Amino acid sequence: MPQTVAAPSPSATAAAAHPDSAQAQQTMRRLVTGAWLSQAIVVAAELGLADLLANEEWSIDELASACGAQTDALYRVLQALGCVGLFHETEGRNFRNTPLSETLRSDIPGSLRSLVRQMGIDPVWRAWGHMLYSVQTGQSAFHHLTGQTLFGYIGDHPEAAEIVDSAMLNLSEQEAPALVRAYDFSDARLIVDVGGGRGLLLAEILAAAPSARGILQELPHAAESARHLLGARGLAARAEVVTADALETVVPGADLYIMKHIVHDWDDERARRFLSNCAAAMRPDSKLLLAEMILAPPNEPHFSKLLDLHMLVNYPGGRERTLDDFRRLHHSAGLRATRILPTDGLLSLIESVRL
Ligand SMILES: C[S@@+](CC[C@H](N)C(=O)[O-])C[C@H]1O[C@@H](n2cnc3c(N)ncnc32)[C@H](O)[C@@H]1O
Repeated sequence: MPQTVAAPSPSATAAAAHPDSAQAQQTMRRLVTGAWLSQAIVVAAELGLADLLANEEWSIDELASACGAQTDALYRVLQALGCVGLFHETEGRNFRNTPLSETLRSDIPGSLRSLVRQMGIDPVWRAWGHMLYSVQTGQSAFHHLTGQTLFGYIGDHPEAAEIVDSAMLNLSEQEAPALVRAYDFSDARLIVDVGGGRGLLLAEILAAAPSARGILQELPHAAESARHLLGARGLAARAEVVTADALETVVPGADLYIMKHIVHDWDDERARRFLSNCAAAMRPDSKLLLAEMILAPPNEPHFSKLLDLHMLVNYPGGRERTLDDFRRLHHSAGLRATRILPTDGLLSLIESVRL
């Protein structure tokens, strides 16, 4: 009697022909569904689940009622997040935090909750869905969708501004100590932080350089919260906040200028304007420090390469740069890069002087 054998499925045939292909297909499925996972994490952060679970286990009913979610739908989100170690289910549909979900608590140093919520700001999330537009045109999908830059958008949407400011503050809470460990600020008497945000980096630098004074130059929207933070750190007498557009002018005469996460927001032409306005403000013995990520060489995995896509999609002209790009940019702005200092975080420091 002839035996009937089920015909192998096309995918099984392919896997047998190429032993690595089953693995590759599994990897591809995991990678392409990353956006689903990403949105589930955004939802968990938005609902504040990690904060609710900070001290004790909660049942799914308690969680759903506390955060205003539909119980079954919330359970399904937590079930999926459990696959990657975010929240842990215990007996009786109870949940507790894991080390990974703890990063979403709002009350811990270096909290990632605001950074995650920033990914979920409606036009930011939609802009990623229009990345093809950015790749075909080289233009920001965010601008295409909203007619605004991200900074313009948050100017009109205070709830989004609060999320973005708080994400930047959390990032600075991690980065500023690493920068202060990597550079000796003690020689400078006057330090200007151009586009200094809420002032956390300047506060850390002034704490490490007790004889220095600081000026934070910002746009009007950020000035008040910077004054508040510097005052709360007891630095009101040593630190001043100046509102001035650094694309027009930079406060003159400091020993040291610093710009963190500024140049990567802009195309080469405007990045050059920030740098040449610093050069014009500097004395021959002044120094400028850029704190930026440096794009790793081809094929070397590095977060800078993903961040570069965020810049492509969400910022008009924003981009990450290689060391050679930075050297060229400095030179075109009348500056010479003198030292490149790694930090124990993802940022490097590029020190320069006037040509
Ligand atoms: C990505 S944030 C970085 C903030 C801060 N340096 C940090 O690393 O936390 C960019 C900052 O640049 C400021 N900025 C943008 N354009 C500016 C301009 N033309 N002049 C001065 N500041 C500017 C923004 O207000 C914002 O605070």
